[in-house]
Amino acid sequence: MSITIKTTDEIEKMRTAGRLAAEALEMIEPHVQIGITTDELDKICHNYIVNEQQAIPAPLNYHGFPKSICTSVNHVICHGIPGDKKLKRGDIVNIDITVIKNGYHGDTSKMFMLGTPPIRAQRLVQVSREALLQGIALVKPGIHLGDIGYTIERYTKQHNFSVVHEYCGHGIGKAFHEEPQVLHYGKKGTGPILETGMTFTIEPMVNAGKRHCKLNPNDGWTVTTKDRSLSAQWEHTLLVTESGVEVLTKRTEEDDL
Ligand code: MF3
Ligand code: CO
Ligand code: CO
Repeated sequence: MSITIKTTDEIEKMRTAGRLAAEALEMIEPHVQIGITTDELDKICHNYIVNEQQAIPAPLNYHGFPKSICTSVNHVICHGIPGDKKLKRGDIVNIDITVIKNGYHGDTSKMFMLGTPPIRAQRLVQVSREALLQGIALVKPGIHLGDIGYTIERYTKQHNFSVVHEYCGHGIGKAFHEEPQVLHYGKKGTGPILETGMTFTIEPMVNAGKRHCKLNPNDGWTVTTKDRSLSAQWEHTLLVTESGVEVLTKRTEEDDL
């Protein structure tokens, strides 16, 4: 399969899926408190997506993933499995939500801070969000995908952090992960050229230490930093429009988008 261009009807469905994913992240925010377990957050999200949104949590059973959301705490880069560990003061946690509505996917994540984490952790959270925004700002018909990766990695390095290479953004639509791969590093002027009607995610994973990662061999999912440094990630689902970009998973708090 190559990169699909969404029809007007598919774009409307992507808008709905994106909005629901964003609303699920907004819903969970007040629950993200010191002392709650990531399992409890998973259950609240699952019930909200299934019962209120009448949608499907895409991660559940995806290639055997056991839960409905991903929760990645501190040195976990991505694909953290909700469990019985309580969030504690000073933690940073990424919650990644993907819903399927009317056959189409919306995929988004954000960082939460528990209490006031150390200043370096706060900076990491800030820089990783800004890296995503710098990528989004480039999106319009005619640019190369490599331009986005180049800008994200350059910005991250300027702030003395590193960007993960092994995991990337992706085309999205009827399938959770479609072509193209959206790398968060690269060279200007390389890779596919964006066209109106493409939908894809940008989701940079930024490490406080070195970029290298390690997959937990016991659960086959949890990705951590090799050097145990902190990691942060933000994700949006995007539509390429004639005039630039529409952020399909924009939250109300994001008046800078
Ligand atoms: N939501 C992740 C992404 O942004 C994918 C999670 S796959 C899962 O692409 F199986 F771990 F849920
Ligand atoms: Co994604
Ligand atoms: Co995601």
